Amino acid sequence: MINVDNVNKIFTQRDGNTFQALDNVDFSIKKGEFVSLLGPSGCGKSTVLNLIAGFDKSYEGHIKVNGAEVKEPGPDRVVVFQEHGLFPWLTVLENVAFGLKQKGIGKKERLELAREQIRTVHLSKFADRYPHELSGGMKQRAAIARALVMDPQILLMDEPFAALDEQTRLVLHQELEDIWLKTGKTILFITHNIREAVMLSDRVLVMSTRPGTIKKEFNVQAARPRDSADSLLHHVEKAIMECLADELEKVVKEEMGDDTYSLKKNSVFDRTFGGMGGGI
Ligand SMILES: Nc1ncnc2c1ncn2[C@@H]1O[C@H](COP(=O)(O)OP(=O)(O)OP(=O)(O)O)[C@@H](O)[C@H]1O
Ligand SMILES: [Mg+2]
Repeated sequence: MINVDNVNKIFTQRDGNTFQALDNVDFSIKKGEFVSLLGPSGCGKSTVLNLIAGFDKSYEGHIKVNGAEVKEPGPDRVVVFQEHGLFPWLTVLENVAFGLKQKGIGKKERLELAREQIRTVHLSKFADRYPHELSGGMKQRAAIARALVMDPQILLMDEPFAALDEQTRLVLHQELEDIWLKTGKTILFITHNIREAVMLSDRVLVMSTRPGTIKKEFNVQAARPRDSADSLLHHVEKAIMECLADELEKVVKEEMGDDTYSLKKNSVFDRTFGGMGGGI
């Protein structure tokens, strides 16, 4: 369904210098799969997502969706960002229905479709509220409803829950898994939260940085719906942490210019990640 084939991305910075953000990024996602891209800040996660979304056409390699080269944004792919991007002057209902107008759908049907998706994300009671009258979790739910109402095959989610508190995030994980199980959408989910990636995904692609590339892939074969107490999830989390510890050591060595530096991995992960389930 999505094929990212040996993609290199070079940015030309304002001072004229070039910066290689992606180096031979290569992966594919099957129809209906839930895949996370996980990696440290700056490793190129959003760059990959923007290329698949069709926002940026200057890259080497090939990106295909259903066999067709991605040349521009399309109705088959909808992006949900960390910033919900709701229009502040429109109610939840109007925000969710907005994109359908562009599709030429009549008002009555627009509102019906929007109400249906608002129900899916459990916001029916708040359909007539404006974004500033909603909590962070509600805004993100509205943003998800606005994406779903367009009925895309693919949801591209760039750290959609990063700004939320832990409890709200856990609730939204369940809701998103529910929606995914019901709709069978293909989801590419970006995060630097290891637990989030493992809880939600069929596969986690761990990226390394400078330049960004896919370092390792982890299959998460735990039963659905996911149970946070499932020991299999903890095993995968631990394996990902170990993989990222090597990455962190590489970055620290580069920054310190000291090849002999060795990271005390256990203590760093206990402190940095707060034990299992932290972010990077
Ligand atoms: N328009 C741009 N011009 C120059 N460099 C850029 C541009 N956009 C991104 N970069 C650089 O490319 C690299 C990858 O950026 P990207 O935003 O994809 O990282 P990320 O993994 O999404 O990070 P974060 O987790 O912080 O969101 C970074 O070093 C960034 O500074
Ligand atoms: Mg990003």
